[in-house]
Order: sequence, then structure tokens, then C-alpha cells
Amino acid sequence: MSKLEDIVSLCKRRGFIFPGSDVYGGMAGTWDFGPLGVMLKKNIMDTWWHYFVETRDDMYGIDAAIIMNPKTWVASGHAATFADPLVECKECKSRFRADKIADGITESVTTDEFLALHVKCPTCGKENWGPIRKFNMMFTTHVGAVLPEDTKDNPELAEKNIAYLRPETAQGIFTNYKNVVDTIYPNLPFGLAQQGKAFRNEISPRDFILRDRECSQMEIEYFVAPDTWEENFEKMRSLQHDFLENVIGLPAKNIHELDVPKEDRAHYSKRTIDFMFDYPNGEEELMGLAYRTDFDLSNIERESGKSMEYRDKTTKEAFIPHVIEPSIGVERLFLAVLSNAYTEDEIDGEKRVVLKLPKALAPYKFCVSPLLKNKPELVDKAKEVYDKLRQKYTFVTWDDSGNIGKRYRKQDEIGTPECVVIDFDTLEDGTVTVRDRDTTKQKRVKIEKL
Ligand code: GAP
Repeated sequence: MSKLEDIVSLCKRRGFIFPGSDVYGGMAGTWDFGPLGVMLKKNIMDTWWHYFVETRDDMYGIDAAIIMNPKTWVASGHAATFADPLVECKECKSRFRADKIADGITESVTTDEFLALHVKCPTCGKENWGPIRKFNMMFTTHVGAVLPEDTKDNPELAEKNIAYLRPETAQGIFTNYKNVVDTIYPNLPFGLAQQGKAFRNEISPRDFILRDRECSQMEIEYFVAPDTWEENFEKMRSLQHDFLENVIGLPAKNIHELDVPKEDRAHYSKRTIDFMFDYPNGEEELMGLAYRTDFDLSNIERESGKSMEYRDKTTKEAFIPHVIEPSIGVERLFLAVLSNAYTEDEIDGEKRVVLKLPKALAPYKFCVSPLLKNKPELVDKAKEVYDKLRQKYTFVTWDDSGNIGKRYRKQDEIGTPECVVIDFDTLEDGTVTVRDRDTTKQKRVKIEKL
């Protein structure tokens, strides 16, 4: 099994991630987070929020609706340009994203350029392609009490009712920029941060949770004076490294910056750096840092007729701020964290799997258990210790299943940094064994010191 397959298997075995709609045979491009996955995901999201919002004076939060006025996507350019190159094999009818089945081409590939590469169909092996067509990745939905028969002979009504599931959380920030400026009068530069779901009808979802049709993003739109964009871009760039490496614990050697060339950049960007990560299946984009200029606010101003200008509090000068945007997918960060933590080693001749998660991210920090579960005096004492810790902390778990060795293996696999074991000495001297996940070393600690 490849390392990615091992991680997928661990995620299912231990309740981190299940295939979406598993019981009905799945739903491509969707994944469900189980009890352990929810805890890890929440820790990752809370850590990001704490670092980028709660500990800073220049950042504020937003939680906007997923379904937005369709004008949003006209102004943002998504209605016209948020499309991938779709190609169909005329032999077996399989459909692919053209730039993902051939090397050296980008999303802007033309039919002629693609045909010149003589790509074989990954499904049937033949070379008989239809033209490249642009496939818009936004999911559509219908809003309001309109029945399909109402719109059958009335395309205008059908059109009027269409709405989109947001393909990026960013627009919920841009559309609230004016509300925030008019209500809390922030000083420039300031950032608005949002965490939430985003939806993309990906042609080929793949690599476990790396490319999903429903994902969660954590985005910041950082509003700056136009002539300061470069210095703020650099500040944001080093903040991202600090967060990924020193807070989340990803090794710097596994993170590579890719200065995205003009032809590969999103339509709104004048500069983009993709932060690539060495995932088990190869290097892939973990996050992006983009200079979006005043593209979004200017378009909103045009579409809405409302001024998006910011008036400087001292100079009184009015201008539309420019924007630096760091954007990261929660699932991609989750997979990077898991890939980095997943370790197979050998302890006393026995192979084990261990998730060496940073303590702050681990779903549980402690597991409390009695050495033997058939000794009521040990179970009672262990319960007493557990209840005491549980009153103070949410991240303590109880385990009295199987024997102590099996419990250690299970806690290692879910990344619990320390196991607290109550044994006969505890009854004598009030100390417990604390066993370290990574070294498996044990020490004795007074209960009051836990
Ligand atoms: N607002 C800018 C934006 O959305 P993007 O490069 O399209 O830019 C930003 O997406 C980040 O969102 C990516 O770097 C990635 O981490 C995550 N992401 C995008 N599409 C994804 C997908 N289909 N599945 C999982 N994560 C995705």
C-alpha cells in the first residue's frame, strides 16, 4: 500500500474521515469527518483563527451566507471565467480535465495544442478526442417557490431563480467590506477573515481529500493602500511560513514556493505565490497568496453603484484599497498535517503506526485508563482521576478496552500525546504512569501534577 492509502485506511479505521454518503455507495468528491476528524479539523481551524484573527488588532471576522446574490459572481468574474478545460474521449465517453492528463499545459490550453500532444485516454488507451470545452465549476441551485413546470416554457423565470453555491469564501468578505468600514471604522491596513464551505464541481476529484467538490476554506482579504501592496504581500508571505512551520509544525523542507506565471494566474491576480507541499503522492498546492489589486472592490462598485472608497483618517484622501489574499483549504492542511504526522516504527520488535501530531492539534491530549479493567479498585481510582481532569479539560479521553498494550496502540494511532495509567502503586503513593506517545518512555507523576 502507498502511504496515502495507509492514511486513508487509518482515517476510516479510527473514525477521522469516511467517504461521503458511504452507506449509499459514496458521492464522488465528498468526504465526511467522523468523531476524531471533527476534533482534528476544529483544532486546525481554531489554531488558524487564533493566529490570524484573535491575536491581532488588524483582523476581524466575517461569517457570510453561502448562497449569495448572483450579481456577486458576475462582478467577481466567476460567471464568465471560473471554468476548467473539459475534454471527452469519443471512444469511451470518459471526460477529463485536459491539463491534468497531459504534461506541460495549463488551464488555457486550446484544442489544437492538446491534440498536438497525442495524449492517450487514461480509461481506454485510445487517442480520439473531442474539442476542448470550457466547463464552469460553479454549482447551480434554484431559490424560491418555483416548480420545474413553471419554468418549462419560461427560460427567463428559470434564469431569475438560479443561484450558485459559492466557489470561494472570499466574495462573502468583499461584499461585506463596506458594511464593516461603515460600522467599525477600521484603520487601514486591516483584514477580514472567514472560514467556511466552498463548492466546486471539479471534473476529476482525486487524491482523497485533496481535490473535493465540497471543501472548507480559510481566507483573509487584507485591505491596504495601493502603494503599499508589495510590503504587505511580503509580510503576509512570512506570516504564512510562520503559521505553517512554527504553529502547525509542517517541516520547512516540505514547503516550496511557486511564483505563478501570468498565464496560470487567476483572472483577478497580478501576483500569486502558491505554497506547494510534498504530499505522499507528490508536490501539490497547499495554499495560495494572491495580490488581487482593487479588482473585486472596483467591480462591486460598478455592479452595485455603491462607493467602495476608503477615506484615510489623517490625510482625508479617498481611494479603493488593494487586497492581499492568503487562502488555504482546510482539507489540504488537514492532509498535510496527517502526512507529516503519520509514522510507522518498531517498538520492542513490534511494528506500530503512530500519528505524531503537535499537541495543540491532537484530538485528545490525555487518555486515562486503569492498568487492569477487572480490578475494581484500579477502575474506581482511574475514574476518579479521569473525572477530575474531565471537569477541567475537554480533551481527555477514557479507555479501558482490551489490554494496556492494545490501548497504547490505539491511542498512538489517533495521536494522543500522553497515556495516564493507574496501577497498584497509585493506590499506595498517589502517583500514576505517564507514557509518552513518541518515545514510549514512561515516568511516574503525582496525580496533583497532571
Ligand atoms: N479565493 C481564492 C481562491 O479560492 P484558489 O487557489 O482557487 O483561490 C484557494 O483556492 C485554496 O483553496 C487552495 O490553495 C486549496 O487549498 C483550496 N482548494 C481549492 N479548491 C479545492 C478543492 N477542490 N478541494 C480542496 N481544496 C481546495
